[in-house]
Amino acid sequence: MGEFLLKPRVHFGQGALATLNQLSATRVLLVTDKAMVKFGLAQRATELLQRQGADCQVWDDIASDPDIETVAHGMQLMNARYPDLVVALGGGSVIDAAKAVIYTQRRARPELARPRFVAVPTTSGTGSEVTAFSVVKAGAEKLVLVDEHMLPDIAILDPALAASVPPAITADTGMDVLCHALEAYVSRQASDFTDALAEKVVELVFSWLPACWRQGDNLEAREKMHNASCMAGMAFTNASLGITHSLAHALGGMFRIPHGRANALLMAGVVAWNADYTGQCDTFAARRYARLAHKLGLPASSTYQGVTSLLVAIQTLKEAMQMPAGIRDAGVDVNNG
Ligand SMILES: NC(=O)c1ccc[n+]([C@@H]2O[C@H](COP(=O)([O-])OP(=O)(O)OC[C@H]3O[C@@H](n4cnc5c(N)ncnc54)[C@H](O)[C@@H]3O)[C@@H](O)[C@H]2O)c1
Ligand SMILES: [Zn+2]
Repeated sequence: MGEFLLKPRVHFGQGALATLNQLSATRVLLVTDKAMVKFGLAQRATELLQRQGADCQVWDDIASDPDIETVAHGMQLMNARYPDLVVALGGGSVIDAAKAVIYTQRRARPELARPRFVAVPTTSGTGSEVTAFSVVKAGAEKLVLVDEHMLPDIAILDPALAASVPPAITADTGMDVLCHALEAYVSRQASDFTDALAEKVVELVFSWLPACWRQGDNLEAREKMHNASCMAGMAFTNASLGITHSLAHALGGMFRIPHGRANALLMAGVVAWNADYTGQCDTFAARRYARLAHKLGLPASSTYQGVTSLLVAIQTLKEAMQMPAGIRDAGVDVNNG
């Protein structure tokens, strides 16, 4: 017996941001960060939200990898105004901060009505706009909150919002998308539903991520990666993730490596480990990786050859985007955490 949860409503495509002006609300809390202010995106969102007469408060100091103190500050803002609509505009860090605030308010004040929640991702990476997870830092540790009540009611995927993402962050976040799909695909909780999403995501990433990296304002490529990121989120929120993510949270929390880059550094090693690549190479995961390689049109006449093809494809993708090969190349001094 299985289960596949489908939420939220997803508006996608160029111009989708304009959906914000159809939302009626009295008091809005716009959760965002300084980059969104700098690129004028926070201003655009505020203008759209105000067209229906809403009173919009902007909370724009979310840093990457939000921590418990950030969430506590968000709670103060919530308790001062009781917004009926929360809009998160930013990368996974911004969306996760908003989710953690909603989670905490529900825990602390269960008698209050949950505000409507809209997530507008500006990176193509975490898929947080459709997942029941939020990652919050406590010191050097990354905690993962899991609760369906954090799922947004609406996700808005406008690829133009990702056009300003610089190449290194495009690479990091894009590899996060690939990692979500790979981990969902070899999960014991994978199903026909999550497989369909993961297979499409992997195809989209290998086809379009290098184009996004080379030319950030290629909106066709951005749209493909934005959709892929969201679909990967749908896959992993249902199938769950694997040890790349467990290790990446530890590595990222301790050495401040961006989430997607940590995954990219660990991914090939975990694929090889899961597949028992240097042993029999005949595990459940090995067969799944080989199937994926076959679906991608890569050489896969045996399980071993399929896994090899996938490993080569991952390596080639990283090299095409000039990503660091190993943990040391990423500037980590393992003796000095
Ligand atoms: N909730 C989930 O399901 C889930 C899944 C994976 C990762 N995460 C968490 O999400 C966080 C990472 O999110 P992320 O990878 O999206 O990075 P991020 O949100 O930390 O953003 C990275 C950087 O990119 C900037 N940025 C964002 N959008 C931009 C744009 N359009 N133009 C220019 N700059 C822009 C940000 O200001 C920031 O400096 C981590 O804390 C990670 O643990 C959550
Ligand atoms: Zn991730």
